[in-house]
Amino acid sequence: MKKTLIGVTLAALLAGFIGCNSTSQLVSMRGDGVELPDHAPVSKSYSEKTPGVGDQRLITRTFLTQPPLVPHAIEKYVPITYDDNGCLECHITDELRGKKLPKMGASHFSKTVLDEDGNPAVEMSRYQCDTCHVPQVDAKPLVDNVFNGVTKR
Ligand code: HEC
Ligand code: HEC
Repeated sequence: MKKTLIGVTLAALLAGFIGCNSTSQLVSMRGDGVELPDHAPVSKSYSEKTPGVGDQRLITRTFLTQPPLVPHAIEKYVPITYDDNGCLECHITDELRGKKLPKMGASHFSKTVLDEDGNPAVEMSRYQCDTCHVPQVDAKPLVDNVFNGVTKR
């Protein structure tokens, strides 16, 4: 009789333990239970603003030597190929149709090679603009981030 009582008590405790465990379900950062198939994140679109049109501002840099982020749409200019680099149509200069635009820095031009017009040619290591310069989407960070950018010494 005593043995049966101990057995029943233990079984009850064990059931309670398992029960507790199954109610405190682990949840992933995207909000789903960890045992459920992961949902693809909502697809966000990049800026659709045509460069130079509207009032899009340059995106503040967060560290020294950072390639600046692209504040405008780039779909029309990619992929960049050997014969066609749409980015250069604008960024080779600091002005387009009377409007100011950010010209590529001196680091982007060759110190020795000249182009057909006698101007410094584009440095070939800088030709594939989108390996360094990327557009941004307005995505909420999954976890709090207290990182503070430092762009000045
Ligand atoms: C039609 C002209 C035009 C074309 C083509 C163009 N851009 Fe721009 N870009 C601009 C202008 C103008 C700005 C200033 C922000 C604005 O008005 O959109 C700018 C801003 C930028 C900036 C920010 C610079 C900084 O100092 O913060 C980067 C980086 C950039 N563009 C990269 C690119 C890349 C890479 C491509 C090709 C995929 C490209 N751009 C194609 C005109 C152009
Ligand atoms: C290897 C990486 C890399 C590639 C490739 C590259 N850039 Fe940059 N770009 C940078 C970095 C880093 C900076 C910031 C420092 C500087 O000017 O060198 C920059 C700066 C710029 C700026 C801002 C200049 C300024 O004075 O503020 C523009 C505009 C730009 N790049 C456009 C382009 C375009 C257009 C291409 C393609 C033809 C390109 N970049 C290719 C790394 C790169």
